[in-house]
Amino acid sequence: MERMKLLITGGAGCLGSNLIEHYLPLGHEILVIDNYATGKREALPTLPNLTVVEGSIADDNLVKECFKKFVPTHIIHSAAAYKDPADWAEDSSTNVLGAINIAKASQGAGIKRLINLQTSLCFGHPTQIPIPISHPTAPFTSYGISKTAGEAYLIQSGLPVVSLRLANICGPRLAIGPIPTFYQRLKANKNCFCSDTVRDFLDMSDFISIIDLILSDEGVMGVLNVSTGEGHSIKDVFNKVVSYLQFEVPDVPVLPPGKDDVAVVVLDPSETEKITGWRAKISFEDTIYNQLQWYDAYGVTDIYSHLASSDNLRRNDG
Ligand SMILES: NC(=O)c1ccc[n+]([C@@H]2O[C@H](COP(=O)([O-])OP(=O)(O)OC[C@H]3O[C@@H](n4cnc5c(N)ncnc54)[C@H](O)[C@@H]3O)[C@@H](O)[C@H]2O)c1
Repeated sequence: MERMKLLITGGAGCLGSNLIEHYLPLGHEILVIDNYATGKREALPTLPNLTVVEGSIADDNLVKECFKKFVPTHIIHSAAAYKDPADWAEDSSTNVLGAINIAKASQGAGIKRLINLQTSLCFGHPTQIPIPISHPTAPFTSYGISKTAGEAYLIQSGLPVVSLRLANICGPRLAIGPIPTFYQRLKANKNCFCSDTVRDFLDMSDFISIIDLILSDEGVMGVLNVSTGEGHSIKDVFNKVVSYLQFEVPDVPVLPPGKDDVAVVVLDPSETEKITGWRAKISFEDTIYNQLQWYDAYGVTDIYSHLASSDNLRRNDG
């Protein structure tokens, strides 16, 4: 891969910081714009090839200034607002206006590749499982609606955009979803319950391998599903956490999904494999166990959710 000047919006977040850990040692120069809404400066190292700008991508002047000074060749658009599902203005400011600012600044700037990270909530309540990439978008949460609008602006910008519709990615610093919740509560001897929902889980190494592939292949364009294509219930996740911790746990209640939740989200990655040759390599069990080993070593940090009906016991999506 050629040496990149890589702009990562939201680079202090979970996915962004893992991408930095991967790309910085390879000799690329990286600029991060992050307002620390859910990310943390401490997630990033202090190294000469990494510049971190504190601010919002909704700030048009800041974005323009960053492009002028840094002159990126590649962009991974990872910034997203979701932590208060009732704060529609913040979600649209970051997820719509922020995406527009990145698109506008990129136009005419010779950007070779712009990767957008998209939530599977863009599909709303799917009518087909696994969800093919051709499934219509029908988001109904503030996060889903705003991320879908942002993605639409990027796609029609004329830029070399690939938008990846992602499964639940597991890896270092994951602070959302059932895995950290169960791990934390079980270790604290607290009760748990599971929502009656099914999700697909993807290991960070599989996520990074498709980003690698897309950054080096300028031919791939458009929208792609990124997942294993395998669904697992939240109860399956609970059972894996229990077995990893070697706890004796009584049967837990399985409750119906909240009203802003989706019962089954499993993305169909077959088109992605056809177009790029990529497929996930890490099994469900290893994905969960890798995650739990990381919590053993580093602990669980803050937990956020974009679901209004969720609480610390019931979190399903990234
Ligand atoms: N992690 C997953 O499993 C998953 C699944 C589907 C989609 N995604 C998408 O991937 C991206 C990264 O997700 P993540 O899991 O790393 O979340 P995250 O919350 O850890 O990272 C998002 C980052 O964006 C930053 N941010 C928020 N508003 C901003 C603004 N206005 N300006 C600049 N920075 C801002 C946050 O501080 C944070 O560091 C998001 O776009 C998300 O929608 C993630």
